[in-house]
Amino acid sequence: MTTTVAVLNQKGGVGKTTVALGLASAAQVAGVRTLVVDLDAQGSSSWALGLEVDDDTLTVSDAIAANRDGAALDAVVESGWGPPIDVLPAGRDLVERDTDIRAVDPAHRLRRALVGVTDPYELVLIDCAPSLGLTTHNALAAADLALLVVEPAAFSIRGVEAVTDTIDQAWSDLNDSLDIAGVVVNRVPPSSAEADLQLEALARLLGRRAVWTPHVPQRVAVNEAMGARESIHAHGWRGAEVADVFDQLLAKLRRTANRR
Ligand SMILES: Nc1ncnc2c1ncn2[C@@H]1O[C@H](COP(=O)(O)OP(=O)(O)O)[C@@H](O)[C@H]1O
Ligand SMILES: [Mg+2]
Repeated sequence: MTTTVAVLNQKGGVGKTTVALGLASAAQVAGVRTLVVDLDAQGSSSWALGLEVDDDTLTVSDAIAANRDGAALDAVVESGWGPPIDVLPAGRDLVERDTDIRAVDPAHRLRRALVGVTDPYELVLIDCAPSLGLTTHNALAAADLALLVVEPAAFSIRGVEAVTDTIDQAWSDLNDSLDIAGVVVNRVPPSSAEADLQLEALARLLGRRAVWTPHVPQRVAVNEAMGARESIHAHGWRGAEVADVFDQLLAKLRRTANRR
């Protein structure tokens, strides 16, 4: 059984890519066959997974444009991290898809493109763009689970309701098998009264059980590993603490998937 997870938030820089990559890193160590779908025109996860994307590279954008079942197959490649992590890369032309409102059934195009392609994988992680626009609707139409990423900061918590509204809308309009998996809290500072306050506000908003633990701490190793295009598990002792957090989050994600 394949579980497809949309990792999302409308804000940039909160850690969507970090969480998608951290889970992929834990999946690699656990031997869980995983496909990372880069759905952000910035291509951060494609890059961090070791890919070179140029104008000739087949990308998720081509797969969406094709509008046919299984169109993503030609664009999937093995990641630079090695097996069992594969990637459906993104290129800059993906932004054009977000304004492509004339297209027929524009929100289900990624779902169509992935038909059959995702079968060999236990886990498909869709790294969404910082938007609640058409590309993110495509992710939610294709997903079984939505996983929110937030920072323990007022600006981030205030945006959460817009994301949950979008997920509710997607559930009723696009995909009635979509569930909210929960919220991963990223970039938690060592000790901060302000962060604690914001975490309280988040738990009041969504319920305590929706907020996953452990939280991902703020650590330079996260940034370093991404810059070195390495998985956090391959980043040695400096990444060990964060790697352990992602092992636990992956275990929780797999339990959530198995309960469905
Ligand atoms: N827990 C963390 N600790 C330290 N740096 C982080 C952490 N999470 C994210 N970052 C850094 O913040 C930047 C933005 O994170 P990213 O995952 O790319 O966000 P998004 O995908 O939501 O735009 C990146 O440079 C990343 O390395
Ligand atoms: Mg990103």
